[in-house]
Amino acid sequence: MKYDSLIKAIGNTPIVKLPLKGKATIYAKLEYLNPGGSVKDRSALYMIEEAERRGDLKPGGTIIDASSGNQGIAVAMIGAIKGYKVIITVAEKISEEKKKTMKAYGAEVVVCPVTMLINDPENYHAKAVELHKTTPNSFMPNQYFNIDNRNAHYHSLGPEIWRQTEGKITHFFAGAGTGGTISGAGGYLKEKNPNIKVIAVDSNNSFRATKGHPKPYAVEGMGVDFDSPVLNYETIDEFIEVTDQQAFDMLKILARKNGLLVGPSSGAVAYAVASYEPKFNDGDMAVFICGDSGRAYLSKDFY
Ligand SMILES: Cc1ncc(COP(=O)(O)O)c(C=O)c1O
Repeated sequence: MKYDSLIKAIGNTPIVKLPLKGKATIYAKLEYLNPGGSVKDRSALYMIEEAERRGDLKPGGTIIDASSGNQGIAVAMIGAIKGYKVIITVAEKISEEKKKTMKAYGAEVVVCPVTMLINDPENYHAKAVELHKTTPNSFMPNQYFNIDNRNAHYHSLGPEIWRQTEGKITHFFAGAGTGGTISGAGGYLKEKNPNIKVIAVDSNNSFRATKGHPKPYAVEGMGVDFDSPVLNYETIDEFIEVTDQQAFDMLKILARKNGLLVGPSSGAVAYAVASYEPKFNDGDMAVFICGDSGRAYLSKDFY
Protein backbone atom coordinates (compact mmCIF):
# COMPACT_ATOMS: atom_id res chain seq x y z
CA MET A 1 0.00 0.00 0.00
CA LYS A 2 1.22 3.51 -0.85
CA TYR A 3 -0.56 6.65 0.42
CA ASP A 4 0.05 10.37 -0.04
CA SER A 5 -1.24 11.09 3.48
CA LEU A 6 -1.47 9.19 6.77
CA ILE A 7 -5.19 9.98 6.72
CA LYS A 8 -5.63 7.77 3.67
CA ALA A 9 -4.15 4.87 5.67
CA ILE A 10 -7.22 4.87 7.96
CA GLY A 11 -9.45 1.82 7.37
CA ASN A 12 -8.94 -1.28 5.23
CA THR A 13 -7.93 -3.30 8.28
CA PRO A 14 -7.71 -7.08 7.88
CA ILE A 15 -10.16 -9.71 9.10
CA VAL A 16 -8.52 -12.82 10.54
CA LYS A 17 -10.13 -16.24 11.01
CA LEU A 18 -9.86 -17.74 14.49
CA PRO A 19 -8.89 -21.44 14.67
CA LEU A 20 -12.07 -22.53 16.49
CA LYS A 21 -14.08 -25.70 16.07
CA GLY A 22 -17.61 -24.34 16.63
CA LYS A 23 -20.46 -24.24 14.11
CA ALA A 24 -19.71 -20.73 12.86
CA THR A 25 -16.58 -19.39 11.18
CA ILE A 26 -15.39 -16.52 13.35
CA TYR A 27 -13.37 -13.58 12.04
CA ALA A 28 -11.73 -10.87 14.16
CA LYS A 29 -11.66 -7.45 12.50
CA LEU A 30 -8.37 -5.93 13.59
CA GLU A 31 -9.32 -2.29 14.06
CA TYR A 32 -6.27 -1.76 16.25
CA LEU A 33 -4.22 -1.74 13.04
CA ASN A 34 -5.56 1.71 12.15
CA PRO A 35 -2.81 4.40 12.29
CA GLY A 36 -4.14 5.84 15.58
CA GLY A 37 -4.57 2.33 16.97
CA SER A 38 -8.36 2.02 17.13
CA VAL A 39 -11.71 1.86 15.38
CA LYS A 40 -12.24 5.49 16.35
CA ASP A 41 -9.88 6.77 13.63
CA ARG A 42 -12.79 6.25 11.25
CA SER A 43 -15.37 8.27 13.20
CA ALA A 44 -12.96 11.05 14.15
CA LEU A 45 -11.90 11.54 10.53
CA TYR A 46 -15.44 11.55 9.19
CA MET A 47 -16.75 13.99 11.82
CA ILE A 48 -13.81 16.35 11.27
CA GLU A 49 -14.04 16.30 7.47
CA GLU A 50 -17.82 16.77 7.49
CA ALA A 51 -17.34 19.77 9.82
CA GLU A 52 -14.71 21.21 7.46
CA ARG A 53 -17.06 20.72 4.52
CA ARG A 54 -19.92 22.48 6.34
CA GLY A 55 -17.61 25.30 7.48
CA ASP A 56 -18.05 24.45 11.20
CA LEU A 57 -14.30 23.84 11.51
CA LYS A 58 -12.03 26.51 10.05
CA PRO A 59 -8.25 26.80 9.63
CA GLY A 60 -6.63 27.79 12.93
CA GLY A 61 -9.55 26.28 14.85
CA THR A 62 -9.55 24.16 18.00
CA ILE A 63 -11.18 20.73 18.22
CA ILE A 64 -12.60 19.88 21.65
CA ASP A 65 -14.21 16.56 22.56
CA ALA A 66 -14.97 14.17 25.40
CA SER A 67 -13.51 10.72 24.97
CA SER A 68 -12.87 7.40 26.66
CA GLY A 69 -9.45 7.76 25.03
CA ASN A 70 -9.50 6.36 21.54
CA GLN A 71 -11.66 9.06 19.98
CA GLY A 72 -9.35 11.59 21.63
CA ILE A 73 -6.26 9.85 20.30
CA ALA A 74 -7.75 9.79 16.79
CA VAL A 75 -8.75 13.47 16.97
CA ALA A 76 -5.29 14.37 18.32
CA MET A 77 -3.57 12.49 15.47
CA ILE A 78 -5.80 14.00 12.77
CA GLY A 79 -5.51 17.45 14.40
CA ALA A 80 -1.70 17.11 14.22
CA ILE A 81 -1.85 16.20 10.52
CA LYS A 82 -4.31 18.97 9.64
CA GLY A 83 -2.86 21.67 11.94
CA TYR A 84 -5.68 22.11 14.49
CA LYS A 85 -5.25 22.63 18.22
CA VAL A 86 -6.90 19.76 20.15
CA ILE A 87 -8.30 19.63 23.70
CA ILE A 88 -9.69 16.30 24.99
CA THR A 89 -11.58 15.75 28.25
CA VAL A 90 -11.36 12.26 29.74
CA ALA A 91 -12.55 10.45 32.86
CA GLU A 92 -9.88 9.69 35.44
CA LYS A 93 -10.25 5.91 34.96
CA ILE A 94 -8.75 5.74 31.47
CA SER A 95 -5.28 4.26 31.07
CA GLU A 96 -2.14 6.38 31.43
CA GLU A 97 -1.03 5.12 28.02
CA LYS A 98 -4.07 6.70 26.36
CA LYS A 99 -3.57 10.06 28.12
CA LYS A 100 0.13 10.05 27.22
CA THR A 101 -0.60 9.11 23.60
CA MET A 102 -2.94 12.11 23.18
CA LYS A 103 -0.28 14.38 24.69
CA ALA A 104 2.37 12.87 22.41
CA TYR A 105 0.30 14.02 19.41
CA GLY A 106 0.32 17.53 20.95
CA ALA A 107 -3.20 17.55 22.44
CA GLU A 108 -4.13 19.12 25.77
CA VAL A 109 -5.77 16.53 28.06
CA VAL A 110 -8.24 17.58 30.78
CA VAL A 111 -8.79 14.82 33.34
CA CYS A 112 -12.23 14.80 35.04
CA PRO A 113 -13.54 12.71 37.94
CA VAL A 114 -15.50 9.54 37.17
CA THR A 115 -19.21 10.36 37.45
CA MET A 116 -22.16 8.13 36.73
CA LEU A 117 -24.42 10.61 34.94
CA ILE A 118 -23.91 12.82 31.90
CA ASN A 119 -25.58 15.89 33.44
CA ASP A 120 -23.17 16.00 36.39
CA PRO A 121 -21.18 19.26 35.79
CA GLU A 122 -17.97 17.40 36.75
CA ASN A 123 -18.55 14.80 34.03
CA TYR A 124 -16.01 14.77 31.19
CA HIS A 125 -18.72 15.33 28.59
CA ALA A 126 -20.13 18.37 30.46
CA LYS A 127 -16.58 19.73 30.78
CA ALA A 128 -16.01 19.47 27.02
CA VAL A 129 -19.30 21.30 26.34
CA GLU A 130 -18.23 24.10 28.72
CA LEU A 131 -14.77 24.38 27.11
CA HIS A 132 -16.34 24.48 23.65
CA LYS A 133 -18.65 27.34 24.71
CA THR A 134 -15.76 29.39 26.10
CA THR A 135 -13.14 28.69 23.39
CA PRO A 136 -13.42 30.93 20.30
CA ASN A 137 -13.26 29.26 16.86
CA SER A 138 -13.73 25.82 18.37
CA PHE A 139 -15.53 22.77 17.04
CA MET A 140 -16.86 19.91 19.15
CA PRO A 141 -17.29 16.65 17.21
CA ASN A 142 -19.62 15.65 20.06
CA GLN A 143 -19.40 11.95 19.29
CA TYR A 144 -22.25 11.00 21.63
CA PHE A 145 -24.73 13.22 19.78
CA ASN A 146 -23.29 13.61 16.27
CA ILE A 147 -24.92 11.33 13.69
CA ASP A 148 -21.77 11.66 11.54
CA ASN A 149 -20.16 9.32 14.09
CA ARG A 150 -22.59 6.59 13.04
CA ASN A 151 -22.42 7.60 9.35
CA ALA A 152 -18.63 7.15 9.42
CA HIS A 153 -19.03 3.44 10.11
CA TYR A 154 -21.95 3.15 7.69
CA HIS A 155 -19.70 4.45 4.91
CA SER A 156 -16.41 2.71 5.76
CA LEU A 157 -16.50 -0.17 8.27
CA GLY A 158 -19.77 -1.73 7.06
CA PRO A 159 -18.89 -1.87 3.33
CA GLU A 160 -15.40 -3.18 4.17
CA ILE A 161 -16.80 -6.10 6.18
CA TRP A 162 -19.35 -6.85 3.46
CA ARG A 163 -16.57 -6.94 0.84
CA GLN A 164 -14.14 -8.93 2.98
CA THR A 165 -16.72 -11.62 3.76
CA GLU A 166 -18.00 -11.58 0.15
CA GLY A 167 -21.48 -10.98 1.54
CA LYS A 168 -21.42 -14.21 3.55
CA ILE A 169 -21.46 -12.62 7.01
CA THR A 170 -24.42 -13.77 9.14
CA HIS A 171 -23.59 -12.19 12.54
CA PHE A 172 -21.91 -8.90 13.44
CA PHE A 173 -20.66 -8.23 16.99
CA ALA A 174 -19.27 -4.93 18.29
CA GLY A 175 -19.00 -3.14 21.60
CA ALA A 176 -21.34 -0.20 22.11
CA GLY A 177 -20.13 3.02 23.69
CA THR A 178 -21.60 5.86 21.69
CA GLY A 179 -23.19 3.15 19.52
CA GLY A 180 -21.64 4.53 16.34
CA THR A 181 -19.77 1.37 15.35
CA ILE A 182 -22.58 -1.12 15.93
CA SER A 183 -25.35 1.10 14.51
CA GLY A 184 -23.39 2.41 11.51
CA ALA A 185 -21.67 -0.76 10.30
CA GLY A 186 -24.58 -2.91 11.49
CA GLY A 187 -27.05 -0.66 9.67
CA TYR A 188 -25.10 -0.98 6.42
CA LEU A 189 -24.84 -4.77 6.72
CA LYS A 190 -28.57 -5.07 7.46
CA GLU A 191 -29.39 -3.02 4.38
CA LYS A 192 -27.34 -5.48 2.33
CA ASN A 193 -28.96 -8.50 3.97
CA PRO A 194 -31.79 -8.00 6.51
CA ASN A 195 -31.16 -11.52 7.90
CA ILE A 196 -27.76 -10.54 9.33
CA LYS A 197 -27.93 -10.48 13.13
CA VAL A 198 -26.44 -7.34 14.69
CA ILE A 199 -25.35 -7.96 18.28
CA ALA A 200 -24.26 -5.10 20.54
CA VAL A 201 -22.02 -5.79 23.51
CA ASP A 202 -22.46 -3.66 26.64
CA SER A 203 -21.08 -3.63 30.17
CA ASN A 204 -23.45 -5.27 32.67
CA ASN A 205 -23.07 -2.13 34.83
CA SER A 206 -23.82 0.52 32.18
CA PHE A 207 -26.63 3.08 32.31
CA ARG A 208 -28.59 1.05 29.73
CA ALA A 209 -27.94 -2.39 31.25
CA THR A 210 -28.94 -1.26 34.75
CA LYS A 211 -31.97 0.69 33.47
CA GLY A 212 -30.62 4.03 34.68
CA HIS A 213 -28.78 2.86 37.83
CA PRO A 214 -25.20 2.49 36.56
CA LYS A 215 -22.37 1.13 38.68
CA PRO A 216 -18.62 1.53 38.08
CA TYR A 217 -16.94 -0.80 35.60
CA ALA A 218 -13.37 -1.08 34.38
CA VAL A 219 -13.78 -1.94 30.68
CA GLU A 220 -12.94 1.22 28.70
CA GLY A 221 -14.58 2.56 25.55
CA MET A 222 -17.59 0.30 25.72
CA GLY A 223 -20.69 0.72 27.89
CA VAL A 224 -23.88 2.60 27.06
CA ASP A 225 -23.79 5.43 29.63
CA PHE A 226 -25.74 7.96 27.60
CA ASP A 227 -29.08 7.67 25.91
CA SER A 228 -27.18 8.59 22.77
CA PRO A 229 -29.11 9.34 19.57
CA VAL A 230 -26.15 7.79 17.72
CA LEU A 231 -27.19 4.36 19.02
CA ASN A 232 -29.88 3.10 16.65
CA TYR A 233 -31.88 0.52 18.59
CA GLU A 234 -33.77 -0.47 15.42
CA THR A 235 -30.57 -1.86 13.89
CA ILE A 236 -29.67 -3.98 16.91
CA ASP A 237 -31.17 -7.46 17.29
CA GLU A 238 -29.75 -8.18 20.69
CA PHE A 239 -27.58 -6.81 23.49
CA ILE A 240 -25.18 -9.08 25.36
CA GLU A 241 -24.02 -7.77 28.73
CA VAL A 242 -20.55 -8.71 29.92
CA THR A 243 -18.86 -8.30 33.30
CA ASP A 244 -15.36 -6.88 33.73
CA GLN A 245 -14.09 -10.28 34.86
CA GLN A 246 -15.51 -12.07 31.81
CA ALA A 247 -13.85 -9.49 29.53
CA PHE A 248 -10.49 -9.73 31.32
CA ASP A 249 -10.49 -13.54 31.35
CA MET A 250 -11.12 -13.55 27.60
CA LEU A 251 -8.29 -11.03 27.03
CA LYS A 252 -5.77 -13.51 28.34
CA ILE A 253 -7.10 -16.28 26.10
CA LEU A 254 -7.00 -14.05 23.02
CA ALA A 255 -3.39 -13.05 23.71
CA ARG A 256 -2.03 -16.44 24.79
CA LYS A 257 -3.92 -18.75 22.45
CA ASN A 258 -4.50 -16.54 19.41
CA GLY A 259 -1.74 -13.95 19.52
CA LEU A 260 -4.35 -11.18 19.62
CA LEU A 261 -3.14 -8.58 22.13
CA VAL A 262 -6.33 -6.53 22.30
CA GLY A 263 -8.00 -4.13 24.71
CA PRO A 264 -10.74 -4.91 27.26
CA SER A 265 -13.67 -4.04 24.96
CA SER A 266 -12.39 -6.61 22.45
CA GLY A 267 -12.23 -9.13 25.30
CA ALA A 268 -15.86 -8.35 26.13
CA VAL A 269 -16.94 -8.70 22.50
CA ALA A 270 -15.04 -11.99 22.11
CA TYR A 271 -16.73 -13.26 25.30
CA ALA A 272 -20.11 -12.35 23.80
CA VAL A 273 -19.26 -14.26 20.60
CA ALA A 274 -18.26 -17.33 22.66
CA SER A 275 -21.46 -17.14 24.73
CA TYR A 276 -23.48 -17.04 21.49
CA GLU A 277 -22.19 -20.48 20.40
CA PRO A 278 -25.43 -22.42 21.18
CA LYS A 279 -27.34 -20.09 18.84
CA PHE A 280 -25.03 -20.39 15.82
CA ASN A 281 -25.98 -22.72 12.98
CA ASP A 282 -23.62 -24.69 10.75
CA GLY A 283 -22.23 -22.44 8.03
CA ASP A 284 -22.72 -19.17 9.93
CA MET A 285 -20.04 -16.53 9.64
CA ALA A 286 -19.48 -14.03 12.45
CA VAL A 287 -17.28 -10.94 12.45
CA PHE A 288 -16.36 -9.24 15.71
CA ILE A 289 -14.59 -5.95 16.22
CA CYS A 290 -11.27 -5.74 18.02
CA GLY A 291 -11.52 -2.03 18.76
CA ASP A 292 -8.04 -1.36 20.09
CA SER A 293 -4.75 -2.88 21.19
CA GLY A 294 -3.74 -4.31 24.53
CA ARG A 295 -0.63 -2.15 24.37
CA ALA A 296 -2.77 0.80 25.49
CA TYR A 297 -3.50 -0.97 28.81
CA LEU A 298 -0.27 -2.75 29.77
CA SER A 299 0.16 -0.54 32.87
CA LYS A 300 -3.18 -1.82 34.17
CA ASP A 301 -1.84 -5.39 34.43
CA PHE A 302 -4.96 -6.97 32.96
CA TYR A 303 -2.86 -9.59 31.19
C1 LIG B 1 -11.79 0.18 22.24
C2 LIG B 1 -13.18 0.62 21.97
N1 LIG B 1 -14.12 -0.32 21.75
C3 LIG B 1 -15.40 0.03 21.53
C4 LIG B 1 -15.81 1.35 21.51
C5 LIG B 1 -17.25 1.68 21.28
O1 LIG B 1 -17.44 2.24 20.02
P1 LIG B 1 -18.66 3.20 19.73
O2 LIG B 1 -18.41 4.47 20.48
O3 LIG B 1 -18.65 3.39 18.26
O4 LIG B 1 -19.90 2.53 20.22
C6 LIG B 1 -14.86 2.34 21.74
C7 LIG B 1 -15.24 3.74 21.78
O5 LIG B 1 -14.53 4.60 22.21
C8 LIG B 1 -13.52 1.97 21.97
O6 LIG B 1 -12.59 2.90 22.20
